Amino acid sequence: MISFNDIKNPLTKDLELFESLFRQSMKTDVPLLDTVMSYIVKRKGKQIRPLFVMYSAKLNGGITESTYRGAALVELLHTATLVHDDVVDDSDQRRGFFSINALWKNKIAVLVGDFLLSKGLLLSIDNNDFALLKIVSSAVREMSEGELLQIEKARRLDITEEIYYDVIRKKTASLIASCCSVGAASAGANAEVIEKFRLIGEKIGMAFQIKDDLLDFGDADIGKPHGIDIKEKKMTLPLIYMLNNLDKSSKRKVINTIKQDHDNPKKVDEIIKMVINSGGIEYASKKMIKLKDEATELLQDFKTHENYIHFQSLIDFIIEREK
Ligand code: IPE
Ligand code: IPE
Ligand code: MG
Ligand code: MG
Repeated sequence: MISFNDIKNPLTKDLELFESLFRQSMKTDVPLLDTVMSYIVKRKGKQIRPLFVMYSAKLNGGITESTYRGAALVELLHTATLVHDDVVDDSDQRRGFFSINALWKNKIAVLVGDFLLSKGLLLSIDNNDFALLKIVSSAVREMSEGELLQIEKARRLDITEEIYYDVIRKKTASLIASCCSVGAASAGANAEVIEKFRLIGEKIGMAFQIKDDLLDFGDADIGKPHGIDIKEKKMTLPLIYMLNNLDKSSKRKVINTIKQDHDNPKKVDEIIKMVINSGGIEYASKKMIKLKDEATELLQDFKTHENYIHFQSLIDFIIEREK
């Protein structure tokens, strides 16, 4: 298996340029905000979105100045949504450390997220990257819609497999789709190719969220809490599969447990075990692999490109990753 470092190494210089833009955008004169920004910069994530931006540019003629800004824009927005997401999900852990809301409370986390969002927008506007900004802004709209749709479904616990796909397409895949189309657009690709990369990114993004939801059922160190999805009454694919394969009365029982005892770790554990025994994990894995294969299929026109192999390895990493 190819390591994540093998995927990043060909872009070492490019990632440095991206990172310096990313850090510059976090500068502020407000001491409290500066403290929080330093905390965020020190605990960086996998940065897979910038990698998608850059490899999509490479496959379409090469990285340009606007590619770096596109990568920084996307990572700024991603960081903003994670800070907000941990408030929404009441999660106290992120990237192996305390979340912003855990350390500074919700008030500050909400404002910090807004600050990051505004800095992303300004980076694009100050450089006239309007085409990129347009692509990414609709992704941000979809992310908010996806998160809200998820909350609506968590209240009623009536989610179907189709609605689950709709939620993950909006809340997660839209941003990864925008990474691929921003990368292609920044390299000067035509509208048809940009749309193709959007679609490739959308499939990868959905596979990415299914993987994320699978990791929630495991016990490996993923740098954030486990079992939090059921605790938050979030119905993910393995659970939906199990519920669809239970008789009516057992299904009602499980749903009632989620409704009433989602804060009880013991009860949550019982449901997790039931899901594992139901074959829900295998079912979700199959769906994830299918989406990945569809992305690979769409990429076949680029098979002879020298960077194809790197892009493909990045896609493989999405579903094989341990965190
Ligand atoms: C986490 O994304 C949020 C989801 C969409 C599941 P990542 O796993 O890419 O987060 P970091 O940036 O590496 O921490
Ligand atoms: C994905 O949501 C993050 C966003 C779309 C903002 P989750 O709540 O499922 O992701 P994690 O598990 O907290 O990273
Ligand atoms: Mg969430
Ligand atoms: Mg969350």
